[in-house]
Amino acid sequence: MGLPAPLLAGGFERLVRPLLFASYGGDPEAIHERTILALAGVAGLPPARGALALVAGSSGHPVTVAGVRFPNRVGLAAGMDKDGLAARAWQSFGFGFVEVGTVTAHAQPGNDRPRVFRLRSSEALINRMGFNNAGAEALAATLTQAGVLRGNGGAGIPLGISIGKTKVVALDQAVPDYLRSLATVAPHADYVAVNVSSPNTPNLRTLQDGGALAQLTDALVKRAAELAEGGVPVPIFVKLAPDLAWSQVDEVIAACESAGIAGLIATNTTLARDHLSPADLARANEAGGLSGAPLTARAREVVGYLGRHTRLPVMGVGGVMTKADATALFDAGASLVQLYTGFIYHGPALVAQINADDARRNRP
Ligand SMILES: Cc1cc2nc3c(=O)[nH]c(=O)nc-3n(C[C@H](O)[C@H](O)[C@H](O)COP(=O)(O)O)c2cc1C
Repeated sequence: MGLPAPLLAGGFERLVRPLLFASYGGDPEAIHERTILALAGVAGLPPARGALALVAGSSGHPVTVAGVRFPNRVGLAAGMDKDGLAARAWQSFGFGFVEVGTVTAHAQPGNDRPRVFRLRSSEALINRMGFNNAGAEALAATLTQAGVLRGNGGAGIPLGISIGKTKVVALDQAVPDYLRSLATVAPHADYVAVNVSSPNTPNLRTLQDGGALAQLTDALVKRAAELAEGGVPVPIFVKLAPDLAWSQVDEVIAACESAGIAGLIATNTTLARDHLSPADLARANEAGGLSGAPLTARAREVVGYLGRHTRLPVMGVGGVMTKADATALFDAGASLVQLYTGFIYHGPALVAQINADDARRNRP
């Protein structure tokens, strides 16, 4: 399935990427929106999905994590398909799962544009999107229409749904706001990711503090059990920031373990501005979260710390730009990995390369 990875890489980096990066005046968000709409069209047509998979598909090493069977260990990270418009297209790029969202209980516009910036020499992005999304109910309606329900394989691969706090909801009302999103999306999600780590919603990251996180995770796990009505509750993952001190990571682990959280996702974007190429230093002043190659080392460090300090399964994300970066996260203890910025810069070839390597390394 799919073209050989070197051919796919050459085709993407010589033909597709230059065209994509230059279209719509080079505005990354405009390109992104048009691409998602095009993929939403592809997603609705099985022959088009099949054709895409013939070019870009790949298969890797299957695993079961938190009771969910993943056909391979490479996922699309949250934020790429916030409203789930292309939920059924991602399998055709070789992904073993997709995390749609982040959605919030109330629809919201996000921050003013421009709010995404390319730092090309550093293979990085800075974004301050601010959870622009059509709301949890709109996502549920989109997934209903696409026939995507928890456990039915409607997206072709497991589908996670990331939920966040509505900006206008006060921090002390965060718990009911998240609970509302959980109840809305749970019927469609193979797992739910709790985003308390975006740097672009004021004070959101304080929900990672031990006491606040314990309250939130306890409430979410209890509600998931109620929603399951005696069946198996949807597994809930918590996504961490890379900017926490180890003592704060310990608090996150303690809260998640005692609440019965299914796993951790590490990491979100960083507020740090390390490891940038000199050509990008002016852009580095843009406010927002930095992703891509400058995050590789820190994400690996956090995943390694989690691997040594908790038995909860970890999805590793942050600066996976090569198959070696993915291998390093697996070796550091990640059960699964996710890509965002690496996919923007290297396309489906990166997915294929990681999958091929992972299958080879796990061959009996
Ligand atoms: C433009 C953009 C939007 C993002 N939106 C979200 C989001 O809505 N929810 C979330 O949990 N993470 C979001 N992220 C973070 C990614 O999921 C990922 O954790 C981070 O970018 C690090 O991975 P990477 O280096 O592979 O990009 C976003 C990242 C980018 C670049």
